[in-house]
Amino acid sequence: MMNSDQITEAYFDRILLKSRLIDSDIPDMTVNILGETFETPIMTAALSHLHTVTPNGMEKMASAAKRAGAVYFAGMTEDDEIERIQATGAKVVSIIKPHEKNEEIIRQIKHSKEIGVFAVGCDIDHMYNWEGGYDVVCGYPMKSKTMEDMRELVEAAGDTPFVVKGVLSVEDAVKCVEIGAKALIISHHHGIQPSSVPPLLVLPEIKAAVGDRIQIIVDCGIRNGVDAFKALALGADAVCIGRPLMGPLKEGEEEGAYNAIMKISNELKALTARTGYHKVTDIDDKCLVIL
Ligand SMILES: Cc1cc2nc3c(=O)[nH]c(=O)nc-3n(C[C@H](O)[C@H](O)[C@H](O)COP(=O)(O)O)c2cc1C
Repeated sequence: MMNSDQITEAYFDRILLKSRLIDSDIPDMTVNILGETFETPIMTAALSHLHTVTPNGMEKMASAAKRAGAVYFAGMTEDDEIERIQATGAKVVSIIKPHEKNEEIIRQIKHSKEIGVFAVGCDIDHMYNWEGGYDVVCGYPMKSKTMEDMRELVEAAGDTPFVVKGVLSVEDAVKCVEIGAKALIISHHHGIQPSSVPPLLVLPEIKAAVGDRIQIIVDCGIRNGVDAFKALALGADAVCIGRPLMGPLKEGEEEGAYNAIMKISNELKALTARTGYHKVTDIDDKCLVIL
C-alpha cells in the first residue's frame, strides 16, 4: 500500500499542462496574503526543530523567506525561539500546536501578538496517537478542538489574522469560515493519517464551498514550481514548501534555503509565462488536463 506522501505525489503526476505562448510574457508574481503584499506565492511550511538541521535553523529559514519576499510559517516553537525568529524581520505566521488546554494556545497567541508576528494560527490535525488516545508532542498533551474552542482562539487573535492548518475536507473548511479564520491550509501533515486524500484532489471542492470568504493555502508534496502551479490552478492562493527546503538549509544554510525558495518561485514564474498568464494571481484551471 502506498503511504499518503506517495499517493499525493502520484496525483501531481496525473495533472498535465497545456501551453499558451502567443501573446505570453514574463508575469507579475506579486500576491496578497492575509492583507499584505508579497513577491511570491511560494512560502515556507510550518516546520519545527530546524536547529537539529543546522544551528539556528529556524532563524536562518526565516531570513531566507524574508530575502525572497515570502511569508515564513513557524511550526511548534518555545517563546524565546519565536522571539528570535521574529527578530529576523521576516513576516512570520506562528502555527501553534492544538494543546490540550486552550489557555496555553491563547497564551502563545498573545505572546506572538505582543512580539508583532504577522499572523497566528493552530494546526488541527496533530492531536491523536495511534493507540486510540490523545498524543503528547514534545512533552505537551494535545486535544481535539471544538467549534467553541476555535472561536475562542480567533477571538484571542483579534485583529491579527488567524490561520487553520490541517484541513482535508469541505466540512472542516466551512467551519474555518464560520469561526472567522482568514486562511486555511489544506494539508495531511506529511501523511499523519494513512490513505489521505491528496490535497489537490480535495482542493476544487473546498474552493467551490468557501469561494473568496477565506484564503486557501496548500502544502504536502509540492517539490517544484510545476507542482505549485497546479495548486494555484486548482484554487489555491499560495503554497507552502516544507521538506524540500530542509536539505538546502542543511547544506547551504540561509543562502541554500533562499536559493531553493527562489528556484521554485522562478520555475512557477516560467510556467506562468508559458501558460499565457500575465499575473500569477490570474492562474486558473484552463491549462490543466487531469488524467
Ligand atoms: C521537521 C518537520 C517539522 C514539522 N513541524 C510542524 C509543526 O510544528 N507544526 C505543523 O503544523 N506542521 C509541522 N510540520 C508539517 C509541515 O508544516 C507540512 O505540513 C509537511 O511537512 C508537508 O509539507 P511538505 O511535503 O512540503 O514537507 C513539520 C514537518 C517537518 C518535516
